[in-house]
Formats: sequence, C-alpha cells, structure tokens
Amino acid sequence: MANFELDKNNIPTHVAIIMDGNGRWAKAQGMERSMGHAKGTEMARRITEEATRLGVKYLTLYTFSTENWNRPPAEIAAIFTLLLDNLEEEVFIKNKVRLRVIGDLGRLPEEVQRRIQACMDHTADYDRTTMVVALSYSSRWELTEATKQIARQVKEGKIKEEDITDEYISSQLQTNFMPDPDLLIRTGGEKRISNYLLWQCAYSEFIFTDTYWPDFDEACFRDAIAEYQQRQRRFGKTGDQVEAEKK
Ligand code: FPP
Repeated sequence: MANFELDKNNIPTHVAIIMDGNGRWAKAQGMERSMGHAKGTEMARRITEEATRLGVKYLTLYTFSTENWNRPPAEIAAIFTLLLDNLEEEVFIKNKVRLRVIGDLGRLPEEVQRRIQACMDHTADYDRTTMVVALSYSSRWELTEATKQIARQVKEGKIKEEDITDEYISSQLQTNFMPDPDLLIRTGGEKRISNYLLWQCAYSEFIFTDTYWPDFDEACFRDAIAEYQQRQRRFGKTGDQVEAEKK
C-alpha cells in the first residue's frame, strides 16, 4: 500500500503511537536491547519528520511509561540519554517541531528535567507539528491527579459539583492543550493500550501492527494513515447519518 495517495483533507490532526518492539527487534538481530532503542529513537525522529510533512499537528509518543521504571537502571539510563541527545538535535529545530512533555516529570532525574525544559523553551514558538513525549506517564496516574485537583477545587468552593462535565475533566488533564487522538497506532504485535491516554482515546481509531517499532518507517506510517482514511468515524451515530452530514 506504500504508494497509496493520501487524502490531504483527511489527515488525522492527532496521532498517538505506542512504540513497541525495540527489544525484540534487537534480539532478532543478535544485538543488545539498547541498540533497539537507538534504532527506535532514529525512527521516532523520522516519523516525526514525516508527520510534519503530512500536516499531522500533534504526534504523541509513548516513550517511557510509569511501569518502565521497573526496568534495569542501565536500560533506563540508555533510553534517557538517547532521548535527550535526539531532542537537542538540529533536525527538530530545522523542521520547526514544538516539544511538549506529559507525565510525572518530578520523578525524572534533575538533569533530564532541566534539558527537557530547555528544549521546550527553545521550541515554544514553533507551530508546525507538536511532538508530545509521554515520559514517566500512565493514564491512571494522570486521571488520579486530575481527580484530586477537581476534588480540591470543589472543597475550596472554586467550582460546584454540577460544573464537573466531560469537557471540564478533559480541561484538567495534562493533555488539555491538544485535541483527542484521531488515530492510535501500536507497533510490536500486542493488542492492548497499556495505560495510555485511556480517557482521550474514547473515539480514536486503533491500528495494531506486528511490525517492530525500529522497522516502522515512513511507508508504514503512511499506510496506517491510509487505513485510517478508509474507516468511517461515527461517534455513536449511524453510518447513514454520517454520510448525510458530509453532503
Ligand atoms: C518499547 O520497546 C520502547 C521503549 C520502552 C522505549 C522507547 C523510546 C524511544 C524509542 C526513544 C524515543 C525518542 C524520541 C526522540 C521521542 P520495548 O523495549 O518494550 O520492546 P520489547 O517489547 O520488544 O522488549
């Protein structure tokens, strides 16, 4: 499908990706896991560039989950080093990619926090594509924090119980600066969403592929968008209603 003509008027605004399979890719090549992360990082950069070319406005990459803190310290350190070295590369600046980060950032080493903040400051005025890196992130953590925040606001009389609507909850999440994902892609063969954007993916289209993340290149990304474009998003309505609204 790689040469599929994409409909320029139906490019997803927000694509979220679970980049899975780095370790298995490395093992299949007889390499250390860290080599899989290195190749995976290069692919994250290439896919971000492709997203920018196609006009995807938000690309949210599940880079390090809360549960990933249980990995060996050397692997955690290797992931952070690769991430930071890449974020500081000229390619993101050249492509006017804005960086934002979601997650429990207080758990990150201070040096990592400082360098990420510098990248965010440096790219704050860019408006082509925003790359949102989910770091030390889990959706249940995000929802728990938002719930505590809302409870405090009610207790302090800042809002009333009836002010708590679907939209209000969305506004209290870390993702409040962007629309919900139109498309969620998971590479690496597993068919689950592993505590990622649970609230935000209520109406997202899901694509699961067996391809390991280091092999998920620009053609694979375009194929996923082509598949997305063939789906009918109904948001609870009937197919006939959706077709009638297009006319
Ligand atoms: C999942 O593969 C991958 C990770 C936990 C790390 C992903 C991080 C990167 C690719 C760096 C991203 C860089 C930028 C610039 C955003 P796995 O190790 O769980 O693979 P496995 O399931 O095969 O073991």
